[in-house]
Formats: sequence, structure tokens, C-alpha cells
Amino acid sequence: MYRTSFPKGFPEGFLWGGATAANQIEGAWNVDGKGLSTAEVVQKAANRRELTLDGVTQASIQTAVADTGDRLYPKRRGIDFYHHYKEDIALFAEMGFKVYRFSIAWSRIFPDGDEAEPNEAGLAFYDRVLDELEHYGIQPLITLSHYEMPLALTEKYNGWAGREVIADFNRFTEVLFKRYKGRVRYWLTFNEINSGTWGFHETGAVDQGLPEDQQLQIRYQALHHQFVASAIATKQLHEIDPKAKIGSMLARMQTYAKTPDPLDVRAAQLEDEKNLFFTDVQARGVYPEYMNRYFAEHEIKIDMADNDEQILAQNPVDFLSFSYYMTTVTSHADQGDSLGNLAIGGRNPYLKASDWGWQIDPVGLRISLNEMWDRYRKPLFVVENGLGAVDQLEADGHVHDNYRIDYLRAHIQQMKEAVKDGVDLMGYTMWGPIDLISFSTSEMSKRYGFIYVDQDDEGNGSLKRYKKDSFFWYKKVIASNGDDLD
Ligand code: BG6
Repeated sequence: MYRTSFPKGFPEGFLWGGATAANQIEGAWNVDGKGLSTAEVVQKAANRRELTLDGVTQASIQTAVADTGDRLYPKRRGIDFYHHYKEDIALFAEMGFKVYRFSIAWSRIFPDGDEAEPNEAGLAFYDRVLDELEHYGIQPLITLSHYEMPLALTEKYNGWAGREVIADFNRFTEVLFKRYKGRVRYWLTFNEINSGTWGFHETGAVDQGLPEDQQLQIRYQALHHQFVASAIATKQLHEIDPKAKIGSMLARMQTYAKTPDPLDVRAAQLEDEKNLFFTDVQARGVYPEYMNRYFAEHEIKIDMADNDEQILAQNPVDFLSFSYYMTTVTSHADQGDSLGNLAIGGRNPYLKASDWGWQIDPVGLRISLNEMWDRYRKPLFVVENGLGAVDQLEADGHVHDNYRIDYLRAHIQQMKEAVKDGVDLMGYTMWGPIDLISFSTSEMSKRYGFIYVDQDDEGNGSLKRYKKDSFFWYKKVIASNGDDLD
């Protein structure tokens, strides 16, 4: 539409807040009937640059199951949000959160994933969390699957590689939609769905040691099952609670060309297509041609049931969400130097990186927002963005984290530019407002929070919460609806 006036800043009602995941904060892994989840059998990394999540094998699962402690498995203890949720939500409210993104652990509700009836004690916990959020007028944004599933489904069907899991998942989603009808306006289906191409942590499918082509076959098949389950969940929600909205969730990682050589530009485009493939399916409801060609050339065959394509086509998501941490660089000749953990691809000489090698690129956020808006024309939501850093708790209880403020300020500024560019942006939930267990290394000392939690990598500490300098800064940002970023 032709227009001559432009927004000056964030729209009224912009959803400011923070995001967490059950397996990184809750703890209480073996209480109130909870079953063991896939996240709870992943050992912490010996070295913080090492990514061990996908080193899971049948043997390592057996070892983990026999181990009843949490020393090697920090996602079992989290930061004990299960018992601290009132205090933590009160702190979020003090910052002025409008929205809190969290996930529901499937294994709390269906301990083995395939019971006929849900576990009431598990549901009761989330009832209490919602009560608390309502008390402060904070909207919940719930992720249905954030890097975990009942381990029993891995044992029975090799996780999402088995088509049977679709029905189990959609029994879980139906229970939640019915129970929380009218109480939860925003839902997300699969967290960073594209990271299923890396394996177990997202798909729950054990495929270590297999040749790469077989791994790819398993992973893309598992992802197909998730696409279908996500579309069925979308249909369920629209029928059960027509006022609620449901979105997809992508780990957005823009790839730049290393040089203007058209071959490099094409290599970058290809990488970007492989990233956007997931939102293409979830927003448009069809498998794009470029991926069909990729599958054919890699001899990947997606096994589709008769009406899968129809289910996908009829149930696109309402909005698109994504996490944004970094960008990367590629060339047709090489894949560049490898950086730190999760930092795939090459170095960009124009960018600095975090201590974990994640290249910090605020302008890239504006670029991504504009590209995704142009491509889909659906509302967007930045549901993760933040800086993992080592923080120092001073003797007086303060944490001076100016580096975190600088990081967030720069990204929010670029987000504001995107809004002025005309992007329809629903909100921003930074990751993670309170220190939590790292997804990729399971360490505690990679901290993201506005709130410091006294716990070390071994699980020692009082779990006491402290407000960092960034806490007071974010409070001001929210109070001014993003105008005051100083
Ligand atoms: C995203 C995940 O990949 O990045 C989160 O959705 C995760 O679960 C976040 O915690 C940061 O990653 P890490 O490895 O630094 O915890």
C-alpha cells in the first residue's frame, strides 16, 4: 500500500518480555509423576566450545538412565524454577514484562508420551504458573516442544522418526488447548524446528554413527512428521480456541556471501533457502521446489501419507517467530573457518564474536526482519535474542553487565528500524531473562539473564536471585516502549 507516513517507534501494545525453556529452568525432573525426557539424558560438555548434544547413542542413554543424579545432567536440575516460579515471575513483573515465553514439558503431562490420560499433577504446575502470570497481567506465550520429548518415545519409535509420535503429540496439544482455552492467546509449535537437521536434541531420534546420507534421511523424515503434527495442532487450536494464535519458530541464521563473486552469492542463497525452508512449509503449506531438488539430489525420500500435503496446505501458522543470535558467511569454495560451538560457517571480518564464537550482528536482525516480512507478509515475533557471557557477582551483590546492555540495545535499535521500514512485529522476548542452563553445553556459567542465579557449573550454590544492572535498564526500555534505550 502506498503511504507517506511511517511509524516512529514500536506500536502500542508491543509485547516486551523474555523467553525460557522447561528443561533449562524447571529442575524437579523426577517429581509429581514426571517422566524422563530426552534433554535429561544429554551429558554436559566437558569443554564449553564442544557441542555434545548430538553425541547421544543408545549406550549413552542406558548410562544416563542408570544414573539417578544430576551432576552430569544439569538439565535435570535447571535453576529450580519449579519451586521458585513465584519469585521469578514477580521479578519479571517488576521489569514490566508484557509477555513471558516458556515451554511445557511434555513428559510432565504424559510421562511416557503415550498414556491415555494426562498426569494431573503436571498440569497443575502449569495452572499455577498461569495463575501467577495472570496476577501480574503478563501474557503467556507457550512453546509446545522445546528440545525435549518423553524418552520412552525415543525407545519405542526412535523419537520423531516414527510416524506414531504425531498422534501422541497431538493428544498432548489437544489436552493443553482445551485446558487453557481463553487463558493463553499465543502458542508456538516446535522450537527452532530447523535444528532438527542436527539430530537428537530436536528430533529425539538416535542416529549417531550412521553415514551422513542416512542421518539426513532420518532427520528430514522426522521433520516431516513435525510439520504434520504442527499443522494438526494449528487446526486443533483454531477449532478449540478461535481467538488464540499459533506460530512457527525458526533459528534464523542469515548467510552472507564471502565475496561479490556470483558463485559465492549463490552459495549463500542456497544456505539461506535451507534455513527458510522450514518457515516456507509452515507459512505457505507446501514443500518448496528448491528443497524438492535438494532431496532428489541427495537421495532423500520423504515418506508422506495420503493426506499430509492437504493437512499442510490447509493449516498454515498465524504468525512466524524466530530466534536471532548471529549471522554467518559462506563461499562456493570453502565453508570458512569454524568458530565456536553452534557457530557454523565462516568468519565475518566486520563483526565481533561472543566468547562462544557467535558473531554479533544487530544490522543482520533488521535485514532478516525485512526479508521475512517481504517473503511471507505474516506478523513476525522475535522470540529469542541475547548474549551468553561470563558474569561477575560482586561482593555487594551487584553484577555490572554493560556488555549485555550494549548487545541488547543495538539489536533493539535495529528492530525499531525494521518497524519503521514497515515490518509487522508483534513483540520481543529476549533469551533468557534469568540465568539458566545452557542448551548447547549444559553449563551454568554461560549466562544470559537480567537476573543472576547463584549456581555454578557443578550445581553448587544457594540459587539466590540477584538483579543485574541490565535488569534496571530493561525495565526502562519496557516502560518507555523502546524509546529510552540509554
Ligand atoms: C537457542 C535455544 O538455540 O539458543 C535455547 O532455543 C538456547 O534453548 C539458546 O538456550 C542459547 O543457546 P545456548 O547454547 O547458549 O544456551
